[in-house]
Amino acid sequence: MAISINKADDIAKMRIAGKLASEVLDYITPFVVQGVTTDKLDKLCHDYIVNVQNAIPAPLNYAPDGHTPYPKSICTSVNHQICHGVPSDKVLKNGDAVNIDITVIKDGYHGDTSRMFHVGEVSIQAKRLSEITYQAMWLGINKVKPGATLGDVGYAIQAFTEKNGYSVVREFCGHGIGKKFHEDPQVLHYGRPNSGVKLVEGMIFTIEPMINAGKRDIKHMPDGWTVVTKDRSLSAQWEHTILVTSTGYEVLTVSAGTPATPENLQSL
Ligand code: MF3
Ligand code: CO
Ligand code: CO
Repeated sequence: MAISINKADDIAKMRIAGKLASEVLDYITPFVVQGVTTDKLDKLCHDYIVNVQNAIPAPLNYAPDGHTPYPKSICTSVNHQICHGVPSDKVLKNGDAVNIDITVIKDGYHGDTSRMFHVGEVSIQAKRLSEITYQAMWLGINKVKPGATLGDVGYAIQAFTEKNGYSVVREFCGHGIGKKFHEDPQVLHYGRPNSGVKLVEGMIFTIEPMINAGKRDIKHMPDGWTVVTKDRSLSAQWEHTILVTSTGYEVLTVSAGTPATPENLQSL
């Protein structure tokens, strides 16, 4: 499959979809507290996307090859869950670290973003893992410009992650995104500098590293979706949708509540 090169009118629509996805995370933030179920978070987000944003929650009934249709509108991955955690009657408790991953479709275009949330007081280890993962995502984003490669992006993420004693999940990656949820290219969160796809102005893809505190190995749960760390160590993830511009990058998944870009990115 060829990699889409987006023109001004596609980009304008992707900006809108990206902003809406990020605004769902802003909206849900005050609800991510002790005692709430992940099902409740799913329902709140679903209703907000459908009724307030007049958009479509992309995960609902999403059925890539080899998968049963995804049964919910968002992904909630708690503690040792790496990604694609399916909302349920599970009650969030003090100390839980939760990734909420939102993808909306607006006017035929997808916006995809996720953040980490901390329920009450979380451990120092969970905080550090979330911070390192956030910085790793940003180090990858910072490599994006025409002429750079996806290997440069993956290497930046992997080198920083491993220097900090953590591991990069290999089985899942970022992805091209636009009219389809998942398109080429695959954006690996590991790699070698100066290798892989060369970036061109107009490409749009996600960067979404999944970082484990322990070993990188994964396990699939019997629900057919939820992915966990094999050693049950904590895992964290952050995700943005990124446009390659003439001079570098533009983050498309931005809204009033988007967390700040880390300072001193160069020196990390
Ligand atoms: N939002 C996820 C991603 O970043 C994909 C979720 S697929 C689902 O690519 F079906 F689990 F929702
Ligand atoms: Co994604
Ligand atoms: Co996502």
